[in-house]
Amino acid sequence: MDKLAMLGGQRAVPRTRRVLPWPQVTDEEEQAVNRALASGRFTVASAGEPEVAGLEREWADFVGTAHCLAVSNGTTALSLALAVAGVQPGDEVIVPALSFIASGLAPLHIGAVPVFVDIDPDTFNVSADTVERAITERTRAIVVVHLHGLPADLDQIMAVADRHGLLVLEDAAQAQGARYHDRVVGSFGLVSSFSLNVAKNLPTCGEGGLINTDDPRLYRRAEMLRQFGETLAGPSERSYVSHLPGWNHKPNAIQCAFARAQLGRFEATMKIRDANVERLLASLAELPGLQVPGCPADRSHAWHILRFRLRPEAFGLASHQTGALRAVMMKALRAEGVPATHYQLMPLPLQRAFGGAASRAEFPQCYQVIEDSFTIQKAHLHPDAGPLLDSYADAFDKVWRHRALIASYAAAAEDVPPWQQADRLADAEAAELSG
Ligand SMILES: Cc1ncc(COP(=O)(O)O)c(C=O)c1O
Repeated sequence: MDKLAMLGGQRAVPRTRRVLPWPQVTDEEEQAVNRALASGRFTVASAGEPEVAGLEREWADFVGTAHCLAVSNGTTALSLALAVAGVQPGDEVIVPALSFIASGLAPLHIGAVPVFVDIDPDTFNVSADTVERAITERTRAIVVVHLHGLPADLDQIMAVADRHGLLVLEDAAQAQGARYHDRVVGSFGLVSSFSLNVAKNLPTCGEGGLINTDDPRLYRRAEMLRQFGETLAGPSERSYVSHLPGWNHKPNAIQCAFARAQLGRFEATMKIRDANVERLLASLAELPGLQVPGCPADRSHAWHILRFRLRPEAFGLASHQTGALRAVMMKALRAEGVPATHYQLMPLPLQRAFGGAASRAEFPQCYQVIEDSFTIQKAHLHPDAGPLLDSYADAFDKVWRHRALIASYAAAAEDVPPWQQADRLADAEAAELSG
């Protein structure tokens, strides 16, 4: 049996098989960026600037909403979405305990209170039940995150929201193009937000965000809040009158032009990615003790992030050895050339930005998933990543052939849970800041 690379053997993923650059930059992106540069109009405040409005129209059509507004990034998109939907300072907003930090920061930025709820351990999304249990008389809205690209149970969650008179907003930053019952996500919530960050499935050459809604009143309000509360609907000369306490969340025309070029190939790229990822997952699904991400038949997955869970009992280990197993497995896979990473070291409520108070008893599934899983990010996004993913399948296969050895290392290893590792880092950073 060939020796594990972490013990000095040959890597299963040849060094010549590299992760392809993402976002793809083709002639189409170059032409789009040059077109924007040549126009000499770089922001929405330049009369007649065509790229921002072009992207907005094309993304509204793609998602199937009446309106879309481009903004500076996905975090501002979500805080603007909450603000125009009518969330007020002091209102409680339900947010998943497992997400990117921005899902919880955006409510805070408008003075609202994020109330975190546990996730489902198979979908990594919130369920209608956990959401309903968190509702109080101060709850105003639910931020539904389609984590890693898998649409949440929108029908059930929207039914809960209807029963309690709550607003539903979609944070679809990771789920561009995913479908629920044949409708694209971002078309269900009263207002929805997307990110165009370089790492996203639909990226730009930097930062950007998009807001979708069917409501013309909310759209116009968002447009004003994007630019200092001013109205652009008046006479062509700027009045400098602020009607609302808005922000400066304007997007950049060059980045919108780049994203339009990406959008032109988006569906074709998505189809090839689906086939590449599904082939990888089908081959990994056979490995004992590995839970691969799945997708219910009534929806499609954007496969933004691939999260794999480990079951220690299949390795002859006890549950308290889960973290050690994950750590050794990640080390073995990385040595073979598979970029196994963490995605979130702690539940969001444990973040110091939110006060840092959370217990395993409150968020058992979120803690469990963080402890027993690892992810693959970005390497699978490029449409030509198929051969690379095939070599990842070979690497998993090789590591699994050595699983008894991996288990023996895990049994002997010290287990420092990810949130404790993060805590140590945070302490060191805090000491540096105060020193
Ligand atoms: C679920 C989620 N929400 C919001 C954001 C924020 O987007 P941005 O990085 O564009 O501000 C991200 C970005 O990763 C995200 O993954």
